[in-house]
Amino acid sequence: LATETEHDVVVIGGGPGGYVAAIKAAQLGLKTACVEKRGALGGTCLNVGCIPSKSLLNNSHIYHQIKHDISHRGIEVDNVTLNLQQMMAAKDKSVKGLTSGIETLFKQNGVQYVKGTGTIVNENEVKVQPLEGSEEISLKTKNIIIATGSEATPFKGLEIDEKKVVTSTGAIALEKVPKKMVVIGGGIIGLEMGSVWSRLGAEVTVVEFLGAIGGPGMDADIAKTTQRILQKQGIKFKTATKVLSGDASGEGVKLEIENVKNQKTDTLEADVVLVAIGRRPYTEGLGLENVGIEKDERGRIIIDQEYRTKHSNIRVIGDVTFGAMLAHKAEEEGIAAAEYISKGYGHVNYGAIPSVMYTHPEVAWVGQTEQEVKQSGKEYVVGTFPFLANSRAKTNLDTDGLVKFIADKETDRVLGIHIIGAGAGEMIAEGVLAIEYGASSEDIARTSHAHPTLSEAFKEAAMATCGKAIHA
Ligand code: FAD
Ligand code: NAI
Repeated sequence: LATETEHDVVVIGGGPGGYVAAIKAAQLGLKTACVEKRGALGGTCLNVGCIPSKSLLNNSHIYHQIKHDISHRGIEVDNVTLNLQQMMAAKDKSVKGLTSGIETLFKQNGVQYVKGTGTIVNENEVKVQPLEGSEEISLKTKNIIIATGSEATPFKGLEIDEKKVVTSTGAIALEKVPKKMVVIGGGIIGLEMGSVWSRLGAEVTVVEFLGAIGGPGMDADIAKTTQRILQKQGIKFKTATKVLSGDASGEGVKLEIENVKNQKTDTLEADVVLVAIGRRPYTEGLGLENVGIEKDERGRIIIDQEYRTKHSNIRVIGDVTFGAMLAHKAEEEGIAAAEYISKGYGHVNYGAIPSVMYTHPEVAWVGQTEQEVKQSGKEYVVGTFPFLANSRAKTNLDTDGLVKFIADKETDRVLGIHIIGAGAGEMIAEGVLAIEYGASSEDIARTSHAHPTLSEAFKEAAMATCGKAIHA
C-alpha cells in the first residue's frame, strides 16, 4: 500500500462539483487531490451529459433547419443528407477537448489528479484502487469532499443494454437513426434527446406519467406552450400515461401502457426505448458504511447547511446530495465547500439558480413558478410578452414563445421569470442577476436594451408587469 503525504483536501469525483471544488481549494492554498474513476475528468456533464447532448442538439437543429426551414429564407439547398458518424465525431471532439482542458487546469492550479476508485476508510483516509496497476494508494487527509454524482434511474422490468433500451448515455451514441423511438419520461432528458432523434428522422413518442411535460420546476403555462410547439415539430405525446411493463426479447421493444385517467391499456412498439424517468444519487463503492454516513429514502447523502455530514470534515456536494441535479449548481457548491474549509464561510443562493432546457425553442427559468407563488399566498402580478411581437424574432423568422414575469404585487420585486424562445438560455442570465440583486420589474423596464435584439422581449415583459408594454 503506497501512502502519500497528508493532503488538506481529497475530493472524490471529478465532475463539475468535484473538479471545481478541487481547483478552488488549490487556489485557496490547500494541498488538494481529486480522485476520479472514469478515466477522464468532467463527470457525467462533460462525458455523457450536458456537453455531448448540446453538441447533438445544436447540429441536429442545423440539419433540421436546412432540410425543413430554409427555402422560404431565400436559400435553396439540394440533397441534404445526414452523416451521423460525422455528427457523432464532432460531438466526441468537443467532449475530448473539454475534458482534457480540465487536466490542464489541474496542472496549472497544482491539483493532484488520482485516476481510480476512491473508498473512504475512515474520517481521514481515502483508499484508491487505481485504474492502472494493482497497488492501492492511501491518501491521508484533513478533509474529504464527496462529489460522486448520479446515475440514471432504471425502469423495473426493462433491462438497459444501451442499444435497444437506452439511458441518455446510449441515446447520445446510437449508431443509426431509429425508425420509432419511445421515450419513457417527459422531463428534460426525454425532451432534449427526443428532439435530437425526431429532428434526425425518428418517429418519437414521449410517454409521461403526469398530466404535463417538462419535469419538476417548469411553470405550468410554459409547459403547455412547450408541448404545443414540440407537437408541431412532430413529437407525439402521451401524457397522464403510465408504462406498465416492457418486453425487449423480440427484435424491437414492446411496451404496455395505461391511461391513468380511464385505465385504458394499449401497446406501443419501438426500435429504441429511452428510459428518462429521473436520476438517482450514486454512492456505490464509496465506503459510506465505514464512517456511518447516512442517506435519505431517495439515496441522497444527508448534510447540513455547510455541506457537512455527521463528520464535520467530510462534506458533500452536487447530484449525490439535495437540490437540483444541475452542473452549475454543483459548481457553486464546489466553490462554497472549498471556502468553508479554507475560510469558515461560503454561500450559494438557491433561489437564483437558473434552469435551461436546450430544445428549440429553448425553455429557461429562474425563481418561483406561478403555482409556487400562488401557493405561498402572496399577491402577485404576471406580465408577458410574445416573441411574435419582437422585431428580431420576426427578422429571424423564429417567433415561437414568450417571456413571462411574476412580481410581488405590493413591492414589484421580481419573484420568477420564465422564457420559452430561441436564445432563452442566454437571456435568462439577466433574470438571474435581477433576482440576485432583488430587482423590481420596473428596474428592468427602465433599463435600455439594444434594438433589435430578442432581449427587448425581456424588457417588454417587465414593462407589461409594472405597467404596459409598448409593442403589444
Ligand atoms: P457527476 O458529474 O456525476 O460526477 C461524478 C463523478 O464521480 C463521475 O465522473 C464518477 O465517475 C465519479 N465517481 C463516482 N464515484 C467515485 C468513486 N468512488 N471514486 C472515484 N470517482 C467516482 N446539467 C446542466 O446544468 N445542464 C445541462 O445541459 C445538463 N445536461 C445533461 C444531460 C444529460 C444527458 C445528463 C445525464 C445530465 C445533464 N445535466 C445537465 C446534469 C449534470 O450532468 C449533473 O448535474 C452534473 O454532472 C452533476 O455534477 P456532479 O459533480 O455532482 O456529478
Ligand atoms: P426529470 O426528473 O427531469 O423528468 C423525469 C420525468 O419522468 C418526470 O416528468 C416524471 O413525471 C416522469 N416519469 C417518472 N416515472 C415515470 C414513469 N414510470 N412513466 C412515465 N413517466 C415517468 O428527469 P430526467 O429527464 O431523467 O433528467 C434527470 C436530471 O438530469 C434532471 O432532473 C436534470 O436535473 C438533469 N438534466 C438537466 C439538463 C439541463 O439542464 N438542460 C438536461 C438533462 C438532464
